[in-house]
Amino acid sequence: MTTPQTPSHLAAQLREQLHHHAHLYYVLDAPSVPDAEYDRLFKALQALEAAHPELLTPDSPTQRVGGQALDSFATVRHAMPMLSIRTETDTEASGAQAFDTRIRKELTLGDNDAAVEYVAELKFDGLAMSLRYEQGVLVQAATRGDGEVGEDVTHNIRTIGQIPLKLPASASGQGATAASLLDQALPVPAVLEVRGEVYMARADFEALNERQRSRIAAGEKGEKTFVNPRNAAAGAVRQLDPTIAAQRPLSFFAYGLGEVTASDQGGPNFTTHHELLMALKAWGFPVAVQTRVVHGAAGLVDFHQRIGQARDALPFDIDGVVYKVNRLAAQRQLGFVTREPRWAVAHKYPAQEQLTTVQAIEIQVGRTGKLTPVAKLAPVFVGGVTVTNATLHNEDEARRKDVRVGDTVVVRRAGDVIPEVVSVVLDKRWPDAQIFTMQHHCPVCHSPAVREEGEADYRCTGGLFCSAQRKQAILHFAHRRAVEIEDLGDKLVEQLVDAGVVKALPDIYRLGLTALVALDRMAEKSANKVLASIEKSKQTTLPRFVFGLGIRHVGEATAKELVRHFGKLDAIMDATVDQLLQVPDVGPIVAQSIRTFFDQAHNREVVEQLRACGLTWTEGEALAGASLPLTGQTYVLTGTLPTLSRDQAKDMLEALGAKVAGSVSKKTHGVVAGAEAGSKLDKARELGIPVWDEAALLAWVADQQR
Ligand code: IVH
Repeated sequence: MTTPQTPSHLAAQLREQLHHHAHLYYVLDAPSVPDAEYDRLFKALQALEAAHPELLTPDSPTQRVGGQALDSFATVRHAMPMLSIRTETDTEASGAQAFDTRIRKELTLGDNDAAVEYVAELKFDGLAMSLRYEQGVLVQAATRGDGEVGEDVTHNIRTIGQIPLKLPASASGQGATAASLLDQALPVPAVLEVRGEVYMARADFEALNERQRSRIAAGEKGEKTFVNPRNAAAGAVRQLDPTIAAQRPLSFFAYGLGEVTASDQGGPNFTTHHELLMALKAWGFPVAVQTRVVHGAAGLVDFHQRIGQARDALPFDIDGVVYKVNRLAAQRQLGFVTREPRWAVAHKYPAQEQLTTVQAIEIQVGRTGKLTPVAKLAPVFVGGVTVTNATLHNEDEARRKDVRVGDTVVVRRAGDVIPEVVSVVLDKRWPDAQIFTMQHHCPVCHSPAVREEGEADYRCTGGLFCSAQRKQAILHFAHRRAVEIEDLGDKLVEQLVDAGVVKALPDIYRLGLTALVALDRMAEKSANKVLASIEKSKQTTLPRFVFGLGIRHVGEATAKELVRHFGKLDAIMDATVDQLLQVPDVGPIVAQSIRTFFDQAHNREVVEQLRACGLTWTEGEALAGASLPLTGQTYVLTGTLPTLSRDQAKDMLEALGAKVAGSVSKKTHGVVAGAEAGSKLDKARELGIPVWDEAALLAWVADQQR
């Protein structure tokens, strides 16, 4: 923008943008920017209006809590307004600390008074819902709307199996809390409004989008995929046709109450928020198992951190946690400011989606020649890290998302997952933006790239002639889980290959001090260190060696199975496809890939030369068919063990024949848990799966070896 803007212009512009995005979000269920971008604009307008109160208009988006009711739905005036919650800063400890300090001050507590009791909950990323029960029967479900007036969506909410249509006449919360009123039967109130969040579980969202994709592929009109689970849930709730809503699996969590009136048998007289949650649970509403009663700022900080670590493993999206003062008398004392209770705050996590621009689309060459289009992005802070690259996976995906250089895109990074381009903001596209097309040759060695029938990827046909593939192959061989050459990192490999010193794997073992010190920025001391780590790697194990060869489809687990089955390298190299198929988990594609690899003379030559260079391992007897104590069993590791690294614990379990998986399911035989174990441990307990600590694992292993 070149013309200087007056505050009044800027405010009008921000309002217009916010109205536009709110319409896309609330009315069309099709937001074009991530929430973080909306929040940014909203905060900018709030700040501007705070500095210039004369600019405040009654129709400003800052003066409204949510969206407007759609014309096509009947409107509902909430008996008690549906409030929003104030959000504390994103920073770790300070958000919780600031809240606790404020509460203590407002409750006039002194330094000697006890810590305040809070209920810490998850902040579900769905949409708020008010469920009205009269004489125990669900009579109405309404969205929040603007907080005062929402939409009647009863017809769709009835399709959610988790929501009781009728409350049990004699619920009791026995055992839910120690010595509370819940130990007695809970009378069904004459009117009970349950407040909570409707959401879509991640797995249900993925499955829905999968179905939507096949509908689109089949040419069905008017179908689209959804940007995220919240968006899909909102779309389902606001369907006019309940049969369509019923096909979109929704879930619900209860977190509070609206209007409540007592029945003839008296009303529920809760004294704490936690008690109220336990009553909701007793009435049959889902209440998140992560909910905790905690004490003081320290308890809140601890909860925020624990949930932050477990966040990506949860089966649904959350965007933060919510802290609520537990004692209802204290809540009443604290009261409200405008539309927000003073007794609750939301403490958000860094947004997992942000906007940025695509500066280029480059093609990366992988170890097996796979060509991956990668979007080079203007650096953006998302999901807690600065992201500059996002994979576009392959040609079809890049086309499907239609990402073009210059585009403004939504980038998502959740946990350790590779950053992804979610969608393009089409109204920000340059008119001359060029459609991306995949080149049909390798960008590094210029060999032809081919895409085989039924495959998604193009592959460079250059093989080890391609320096990019060679670099990757060397790095793979040197990997910590392969022969492990500690000091051979990617910078060094890059230099060695570019200088033509290392052309094939055996060249690593022929490196001398002179060749190394001739490289840029390589002093004699570090060169000696490199040589020592190369020397050390010569004494290896056969599974590491086989894995290190980088045979397509042969990962660590398959390499171990092959060695266990055949015992010796020559036996593996000479095995026929039929013999290979006898190995557990080896199917036709893997068997063929192994055969093809060893049928190539240059690969056999590399193996011979490596042996000649002094690589050794102990060979074993063919185990073919023999079983180990844990054969056929699956274990999961979680948390930090006191002495063993994760790799060591994994090796230990695998050596006994177990498989080590990443997530707990009904098929898990045991879980080994250490400090800060999170949701996997909870899940194991829930499913009644045996849990060991490190000491138990070590004792058991020692026993097996006796
Ligand atoms: S309590 C009086 N608890 O966050 C406080 N809200 O602005 C009323 N939300 O759209 C809300 N998880 O739908 C509360 N555990 C939780 C929540 C939660 C998600 C949503 C709620 C509302 C927004 C608050």
